Amino acid sequence: EKGGFEHFMLKEIYEQPRSVRDCMRGRIYPIEGKVQLGGIKDYADKLKNVERIVVIACGTSWHAGLVGEYLIEEYARIPVEVEYASEFRYRNPIISEKDIVIAISQSGETADTMAAIELAKERGATIFGICNVVGSSIPRITDAGVYTHAGPEIGVASTKAFTAQVTVLTLMALYMAQQRGTVKQSDLVSMLTELDEIPTLIEQALKSDEKIAEIAEKFKDSSNCLFLGRGSGFPVALEGALKLKEISYIHAEGYPAAEMKHGPIALIDEDMPVVFIATKNSSYEKVISNIQEVKARKGKVIAIVTEGDKTVKEMVDYIIEIPACNEAYLPLLATIPLQLLSYHIAVLRGCNVDQPRNLAKSVTVE
Ligand code: M6R
Repeated sequence: EKGGFEHFMLKEIYEQPRSVRDCMRGRIYPIEGKVQLGGIKDYADKLKNVERIVVIACGTSWHAGLVGEYLIEEYARIPVEVEYASEFRYRNPIISEKDIVIAISQSGETADTMAAIELAKERGATIFGICNVVGSSIPRITDAGVYTHAGPEIGVASTKAFTAQVTVLTLMALYMAQQRGTVKQSDLVSMLTELDEIPTLIEQALKSDEKIAEIAEKFKDSSNCLFLGRGSGFPVALEGALKLKEISYIHAEGYPAAEMKHGPIALIDEDMPVVFIATKNSSYEKVISNIQEVKARKGKVIAIVTEGDKTVKEMVDYIIEIPACNEAYLPLLATIPLQLLSYHIAVLRGCNVDQPRNLAKSVTVE
């Protein structure tokens, strides 16, 4: 059942080239530069004119929502707010029939997310779901939705469900851009052509596994870890930190790299590992100065870099390479090494990777 892997989590990490491919199947047409999302096609007009989108979710699904915010705002130019379902439901949110709410949930059973959906529905909003478990509760109470088609996820730590959620949000952002004319047709063609290649690039990213296992050896006894990134690298940092804390019980924090100097920098010393998302994109130079700030204080730096990068390599203790890609798809690739890093650290610490203490796969109580 684990397909020769020692744990479900590792099997599910390795399934990602296939699960991301399955998620896109029949939905993208690179040559025509077209995205088709049958689940929400009845709302094409509403999407053309909508003034605001609110995303509600918990945990890893909330991180996917943050990536979605970057993508939808960047490409479809629609303002997006991302909220924890547990906060949204208890705070009398301003929401009306003019809004579209996107609820994201792997299990489709999370109690807080369901309650938040009910509240938004009462106030007349249109609700889309992004769920993995077909026929679960959330898809039954939403107006429309898009399944992630990642297949059953058994490990409590979400891995392939996250990348599939991000894939659906990418498709939604490009679909909305197509409806609203905010991205040129020729750009849609090239973006979809590149998106089609992402499963192959994920496969390449998985090849760093052995190297990551060696890096894990060096950090298995740490008691803290910081994850820093900018732009869509920030939700990736949050997700990396959540993975590490839930399965290895090492205290970890994700931060936007620029926020470091507003507090967390006080924590940096020779015992503090800092994981940077330092790939070659629009925030590359800025991230490099943040790395210098950490090195000046003797922090140990592990950097996720673009293949062939020499500048960062010379500055840091360890690098993990991922293939170059369009900035829009960075989270789909940069997340992979972080999943593997937390997996190996947890295994080395003797933790129960698939069923971490105190956690349930779906949180059906509030
Ligand atoms: O099934 P859902 O996506 O609604 O679950 C939300 C969170 O409980 C879930 O993502 C949780 O944070 C995971 N254990 C993260 O790995």
